[in-house]
Amino acid sequence: MTTTAPPRKVYLETLGCQMNFNDSEVMLGLLRTEGFERVEDREQADLLIVNTCQIRGSAEDKAFSYLGAWGKLKAKNPRIKIAMAGCVSQQNKETIFKRAPYVDIVFGTQNIHELPELVRKAFNGENNILAVDRQKPRSTYDYINDVAPVRESDISAWVTIIEGCDYFCTYCVVPYTRGRQISRSPESIIREVLNLAAHGFKEITLLGQTVDSYGKDFTDRQYGLADLLEELSEIAGIERIRFMTSHPLDLNDRIIQAVADLPKVMEYIHIPMQAGDDEILARMKRGYTAQQYYDLVHKIYDKVPNAAVSGDYIVGFPGETEAQFQRTVESVALSGIHNANTAAYSPRKQTPAAIWEARGEEIPEAVKEERLQILIAAIREQSFKMNRPYLDQTVEILVEGKSKRNPSRLTGRTRTNKVVNFDTPFSEDALVGQLVQVKITEALPFSLLGEMVVPDALPAPDRVQTV
Ligand code: SAH
Ligand code: SF4
Ligand code: F3S
Repeated sequence: MTTTAPPRKVYLETLGCQMNFNDSEVMLGLLRTEGFERVEDREQADLLIVNTCQIRGSAEDKAFSYLGAWGKLKAKNPRIKIAMAGCVSQQNKETIFKRAPYVDIVFGTQNIHELPELVRKAFNGENNILAVDRQKPRSTYDYINDVAPVRESDISAWVTIIEGCDYFCTYCVVPYTRGRQISRSPESIIREVLNLAAHGFKEITLLGQTVDSYGKDFTDRQYGLADLLEELSEIAGIERIRFMTSHPLDLNDRIIQAVADLPKVMEYIHIPMQAGDDEILARMKRGYTAQQYYDLVHKIYDKVPNAAVSGDYIVGFPGETEAQFQRTVESVALSGIHNANTAAYSPRKQTPAAIWEARGEEIPEAVKEERLQILIAAIREQSFKMNRPYLDQTVEILVEGKSKRNPSRLTGRTRTNKVVNFDTPFSEDALVGQLVQVKITEALPFSLLGEMVVPDALPAPDRVQTV
């Protein structure tokens, strides 16, 4: 077998949820051990990877459009290797080679730790390498402690604590792409977070498709998200702990109490409602009624002062009537959520709702789009309403860096996950990763503007000049 000189440059595109972004960080860590560094210019790359999402048709199409462009690059430069990772690989397996024959490696969400070996095989001349396992021998994320992920930020880290999902909502592909629920051991998670703290990380976000069902699958112990939040709160150096996404059926009183009691756990819960109509909720197999969702959100607001809840919605679910859609619109204000992600329903193979749609219950694309715009307008109004009370308040911000829109300002988030762009006399370098106090001067629909409150003990550069 002939071996080529070791390749050095990898170009990586990531689509989908935070868990996929976390996976990509792990992939880059694994590839670093093989001598790869990341490049921003695909033309320079020896290895091109797309980490894919299957949640909606548009995400899947985007993955294949990357592959199409990379196939043309490969035609010009045949030594390039192309890999497809993530949820599309997991569900489509070898059919990807038929659709895009220039792809060298297809690997699934359970095979990330095999990446170095797969890449070696590809550069040794093997074609159409498939690594898509169904069974998880153990949590994929246990491997993180043997790898140094190359993280996007050096302040905030994603920490995946539970993989897969057991709910099988009738529209959703996740249980097919990520498999059944498996919780990572607390020991493994704590080890990772201790390591993050030792490297100066200030904030962690615990990830899972149903993060609040963490621990339900343990057979050897009774241990849940509330226990984990308590243990992680003890870790010195970590200042902020977040978790997402929660499922309304799993957000128990102990978790809510942990958010109320533990100062390091942020008062922010992302807990999707999906629809405001009981019949649609039942057909989605969500397991709760609209009233039960409202009661849950109001319980959170009662027990956790100043908390913010956000959610997700799908419009145009098969058979959704105008009246049912109106109940979704009304639910935005009735629930009192602060913000929400929205999507038009997209049929996903293997799911029951896709069959209902194919059998004539399809909502026309134009109607889906119209409903989406109406819902987005309602959410914008609601978000603006929930942002207004922040005016003139002084809030704690973890500084992330320069504001994208206005680089003379810095940006960060409140404990409740609201983006705040603020003026400060200090430089980006002086403040990134610091918790600062900011007085809010303007509330916008989806963000806040403010001015940093400079503590007396800390003279601002302009004050120093005037002394
Ligand atoms: N586990 C989370 C959601 C995970 S998927 C939960 O149970 O709430 C992220 C979001 O994608 C979902 O909240 C849903 O709003 C959206 N989504 C999932 N499947 C979809 C589909 N087939 N069409 C449109 N949106 C979808
Ligand atoms: Fe998908 Fe439902 Fe599982 Fe969320 S709970 S990941 S929407 S099946
Ligand atoms: Fe997409 Fe897979 Fe996440 S389908 S939303 S990348 S779990």
